[in-house]
Amino acid sequence: MSDVDPATELLRRIADRTARVVVIGQGYVGLPVAMRAVAVGFPVVGVETSADRVAELRAGRSYVSDISHAELGHALERGYLAFTDLAEAGPFDVAVVTVPTPLRDGVPDLSHVEAAAEHLTRRLRLGSLVVLESTTYPGTTEELVRPILERSGLRAGTELFIGYSPERIDPGNDDHGFVDTPKVVSGVDEPSLRCVEAFYGALVDKVVPVASAAEAELVKLLENTFRHVNIALVNELAMFAADLGIDIWSAIDAASTKPFGYMRFTPGPGVGGHCLPIDPSYLSWRVKRRLGRTFRFVELANDVNEHMPDYVVTRAVVLLNREARAMQGSRVLVLGLAYKAATTDWRESPSLVVVDRLLALGADVRACEPNMPIRGGPFEPPVPVVPYCREELAASDLVLLLVDHPEFSPAEIAAHASLVLDTKGILRHHTFHGETL
Ligand SMILES: NC(=O)c1ccc[n+]([C@@H]2O[C@H](COP(=O)([O-])OP(=O)(O)OC[C@H]3O[C@@H](n4cnc5c(N)ncnc54)[C@H](O)[C@@H]3O)[C@@H](O)[C@H]2O)c1
Repeated sequence: MSDVDPATELLRRIADRTARVVVIGQGYVGLPVAMRAVAVGFPVVGVETSADRVAELRAGRSYVSDISHAELGHALERGYLAFTDLAEAGPFDVAVVTVPTPLRDGVPDLSHVEAAAEHLTRRLRLGSLVVLESTTYPGTTEELVRPILERSGLRAGTELFIGYSPERIDPGNDDHGFVDTPKVVSGVDEPSLRCVEAFYGALVDKVVPVASAAEAELVKLLENTFRHVNIALVNELAMFAADLGIDIWSAIDAASTKPFGYMRFTPGPGVGGHCLPIDPSYLSWRVKRRLGRTFRFVELANDVNEHMPDYVVTRAVVLLNREARAMQGSRVLVLGLAYKAATTDWRESPSLVVVDRLLALGADVRACEPNMPIRGGPFEPPVPVVPYCREELAASDLVLLLVDHPEFSPAEIAAHASLVLDTKGILRHHTFHGETL
């Protein structure tokens, strides 16, 4: 063993790109991290429990919208490989954990994080760095992950380095990507912070160090709770504005001209994805558990946003009713099943709730979705998926636009659909028969 202290040795390996990197979880977060680490010259492997996903990765087929098949192909040429088992992945110096953190009956489910930490513990070596990226409540890295990793016999800060760095990727966002979005980094002690900072400093343009892992965990929840609450605010306003006969979209456009103190959020059929419907509840759970208090903003935002799919269905029923039609038996074309534009992610998608309600009312529903999840994935479409085309638009009694995918042309919808409910406001500068939310 060399006399150099483990932190100095790890920093040297990070600097000369010989540090071996393993990314645990090859999903929407983990795959981009792995691809970026390959691109800057690290030897990288991915570990992914889904055999379907590993097969896709090995075949060079990316299921994450932000990673092209070509980018994955280049990574494979440079030695990147995915495994279902950490035991097969070989030794590592840096482990990044990007596994799911869902809610189970409204309570944080950290079983994936625990399982990943247990597996890593058995393979840690002197001077390894482990960074958690999964979104979670403040305290997870220190109180849950660290004790598991220290069961290896290695002490954090001298023999083992541990940190937390929240992921900020926004799938489908062409303006800001992984590299140019500043990355918040933290460590459970000063040597750990230095190692985490050096590793991410090699991956992104700017790192933002904060004082503790708990602070970094809170940063992520603050950002997502901020979005969740503001979306709920415009959603509630949209419902009132409709009853008051005021165009909420024009009001938002006008408010958005204010160059300071206002940030634009727009209404929609509800919130989805892995973040907004879940992360704020991690924070409110922690506040309740630790302080015995209720995080009222989160509760209220959940209440408003969860009501939106029902509100959309009610508006659709009223719209059809004005045409002397019942929802029962009407042919409804739903545009978009993903939780937002330009993503293959259907998790917690409000569209799926809307479709459920329409089916329960006896509608004849079909959907257009240009971004289908991977084969064998958890989401089979609940209704027939048909091509997005004029014929389908024209043959429907109601077109319900739920996702503003770029493939959906406002001009075409306006010209060919006989009746439209546009929940994303994309038709508002066109002449069409129907309403915006
Ligand atoms: N998707 C986003 O936009 C986003 C953004 C920021 C943060 N996050 C957070 O990042 C984390 C991961 O989210 P995601 O969207 O990438 O989820 P994902 O489901 O797309 O990917 C996670 C992957 O981890 C795999 N996995 C689970 N347990 C594992 C284990 N023990 N070992 C190896 N693989 C395992 C799963 O099979 C899955 O493929 C979550 O905490 C999420 O809240 C997500």
